[in-house]
Amino acid sequence: MLIGIDQMAFATSDKYVDMVDLAHARNQEPGKFLIGIGQTEQAVIPVTQDVVTMGANAAEQVVDDSNRDAIDLVIFGTESGVDNSKSAAIYVQRLLNLNRYARTIEMKQACYAGTAGLMMARDYIAAHPGKKALIIAADIARYGLETAGEVTQGGGAVAMIVSENPQILALNDDSQYMSADIMDFWRPVYRTEALVDGHYSANIYEDFFKEVWDRYREVTGNSINDFKAFAFHLPFTKMGLKGLREILPEADESKQTDLLEEFEASRVYNKRIGNLYTGSLYLSLISLLSNSTDLQAGDRLGLFSYGSGAEGEFYSGILQPNYKAGLKTDFGALFEKRQRVSIAEYEAIFNKSLPIDGTDLELDVSDDSAHFVLGGLQAEQRQYFAH
Ligand code: HMG
Repeated sequence: MLIGIDQMAFATSDKYVDMVDLAHARNQEPGKFLIGIGQTEQAVIPVTQDVVTMGANAAEQVVDDSNRDAIDLVIFGTESGVDNSKSAAIYVQRLLNLNRYARTIEMKQACYAGTAGLMMARDYIAAHPGKKALIIAADIARYGLETAGEVTQGGGAVAMIVSENPQILALNDDSQYMSADIMDFWRPVYRTEALVDGHYSANIYEDFFKEVWDRYREVTGNSINDFKAFAFHLPFTKMGLKGLREILPEADESKQTDLLEEFEASRVYNKRIGNLYTGSLYLSLISLLSNSTDLQAGDRLGLFSYGSGAEGEFYSGILQPNYKAGLKTDFGALFEKRQRVSIAEYEAIFNKSLPIDGTDLELDVSDDSAHFVLGGLQAEQRQYFAH
């Protein structure tokens, strides 16, 4: 039985900041941000959006009356949770009128939780034929103004339906994964911005990739030449290139050129959105599938998921004939409607936060074009609605 990703969709805010503007404001060479980091634009997430609203805005593109009742597992992967108790998935359940008889939970392990959710969904469908799962991976990447990490911020949500006979990608049962207690990036519960040992985190990412890749080759007998393309977790898009370059010398020369071309397709959207932690690998997969001109049914794709702290997983999937039909987001329209904000506007949005002393707040949502928005706080309860 083939099990895998049947549908995928993406949502983010309708605002972005240009990386040349940011470079000028921070007295950096634009080339460092555009090429050295590999980012051209960055999603700016206003206070009227959070992981719940972005998750709902992504998920509504893949849920309809044809699959609503079959979805009896909802997993929300995030490290930007809005409540220490209640799962973000429960809010989405109400907003999208999801099946009442569904297991509905939130999972956390830095950027890795979306992959953990996907793999658990695959095993769940294998045990419960006919059922479907909804996986949401949503985050807001925040490091702070004028920090080295600032250029690697961003945010958004990817939603995926996992089912039998998937339209997009059949997942092979070949995952290799590992974890180790490492302080490369973390966010204590009292902080709204992450703490990070930047260069160390990039080194650990590469080490984990190399280790799970070597194990993968050993266990499966597959080599780099068996892959049509790779998609990486992209905290910034140069990071994936560094990962790919680690293993590229193992490939035939013409294969190296092809893999580099496919990598360019896999980072088109991430360059314009920035990091979205749990969702970054899956935005990169959407980018690859949407922008590559050379993919065919039956191609083997390799995916590397990394979450700081740290956990890494490498796995493969087989591309399905109807994969384009499973991609539900119109990226042309998404980028077209985005509004470029100045550095001063971005800083004002960045600094605007919800009260933490229990006072009520009504937010002005008139400037937010998303379907689901956060309207404010009442009696310490977040007010979500469609508008
Ligand atoms: P930095 O120190 O400002 O940058 O921080 P740099 O000096 O290392 O320069 C970056 C690159 O730009 C270098 O290239 C320079 O040579 C190049 P590299 O050696 O890396 O190939 N450069 C230029 N290129 C062209 N033209 C120029 C120019 N000038 C310089 N004029 C850093 C960079 C990524 C460390 C920082 O932004 C940071 O701390 N980011 C956040 C941490 C991060 O994203 N880590 C990634 C791995 S960890 C991960 O993926 C998990 C994560 O997603 C979280 C989670 O799991 O939840 C983060």
